[in-house]
Amino acid sequence: MRTKVAIIGSGPSGLLLGQLLTEAGIDNVILDRAGKDYILGRVRAGVLEEGTVGLMDQAKSGARMHAEGLPHDGFSLAFDGRDHRIDLHGLTGGKRVMVYGQTELTRDLMEHREASGAATIYDAANVTPHDFDGETPYLTYEKDGITHRIDCDFIAGCDGFHGASRKAVPASAIRTFEKVYPFGWLGILADVAPVSHELIYANHPRGFALCSMRSESRSRYYIQCPLDEKIEDWSDERFWDELRRRLPAHHAEALQTAPSFEKSIAPLRSFVAEPMRFGRLFLVGDAAHIVPPTGAKGLNLAASDVHYLFSGLAEYYGERSSAGIDAYSGRALSRVWKAVRFSWWMTTMLHRFPDTGDFGQKIQEAELDYLTHSTAAATALAENYVGLPY
Ligand code: APR
Ligand code: PHB
Repeated sequence: MRTKVAIIGSGPSGLLLGQLLTEAGIDNVILDRAGKDYILGRVRAGVLEEGTVGLMDQAKSGARMHAEGLPHDGFSLAFDGRDHRIDLHGLTGGKRVMVYGQTELTRDLMEHREASGAATIYDAANVTPHDFDGETPYLTYEKDGITHRIDCDFIAGCDGFHGASRKAVPASAIRTFEKVYPFGWLGILADVAPVSHELIYANHPRGFALCSMRSESRSRYYIQCPLDEKIEDWSDERFWDELRRRLPAHHAEALQTAPSFEKSIAPLRSFVAEPMRFGRLFLVGDAAHIVPPTGAKGLNLAASDVHYLFSGLAEYYGERSSAGIDAYSGRALSRVWKAVRFSWWMTTMLHRFPDTGDFGQKIQEAELDYLTHSTAAATALAENYVGLPY
């Protein structure tokens, strides 16, 4: 088989890139080691920047997102027993975010890909990039016991943190930066109305909590927990009790509960691989970087990578210029590091750290008080939260 762009990974990065390429008439194939149901079964974050919303429209996959997504003009920072609203819309001159689950976005992109007839190969084992240093790269993979080969012009490594693309790069050619946080997030999904119509990020001496949602009748809640915590030890009752203790009293009293239908613990890490291009292989999204979920930047960073790579590839095929693909890694990394910084900062300000004690708590409260009373500080938070320009 031959294609122009071989895409490894059918998560949001691979699907969005594939849809933009298909819309632009650039032939592409997506391979994933998993199956469709597995991919759609993963629960991830759900806050889209305007740039991500715009890319979904550009990929002609935004209709359901506009119909069912919830535009949010602000969110709340809760600390010291009170709520403080961050007016995203007012502070950024009219920008907002869209609350729409990553699972739904993935489903929309998959459906549009199927309708467009572009090829997707699921359950592809041992996907391996070859010869990306030269002019004629190719991929091999195994399916049903047979080894296949796909020749291509470019390989897009959209295969997440544990994927094959980054691993195919010689260690001497790549530099990685990592920070692992000493706690995780215990998250649940429940079909119950959200406690507030906007998100609440809570700093509390017992640990961070986040009240989010997927719709007006489906809530997503998180609490910070130690990394060695076992999910079996967290009954729904225990989760709801702990969440209530970390929220201001009026929210704790208003909190409605229902049986959870998803419950999991996720570790928090910051990770960046540099550069993001190796000859004709590009790393995109989680394959190149991970951010802690505080601030919901993971999916949005994947989208901005896709934007830079797609414009470079469109320029290459349209104008035979490699300027855009040559600039890909630098442009993407410049935005990546700003979002890595923002996610680290939100995480540091809102979580209880095991080694900083009451002093750390007081410093956080002072910072939060400053942030919620200084327009300059609140504006810096708001412009990062809605997403820095591409
Ligand atoms: N071969 C083929 N496919 C692979 C391989 C492999 N060796 N390894 C992983 N994959 C597939 C996975 O099955 C998955 O479907 O690559 C896909 C990667 O998807 P994601 O992990 O969702 O990564 P990405 O598309 O970059 O999405 C970024 O999603 O996970 C969030 O925090 C992340 O929100 C961010 C966004
Ligand atoms: C979520 O809804 O899952 C979510 C929202 C905001 C975040 C992280 C996760 O910062």
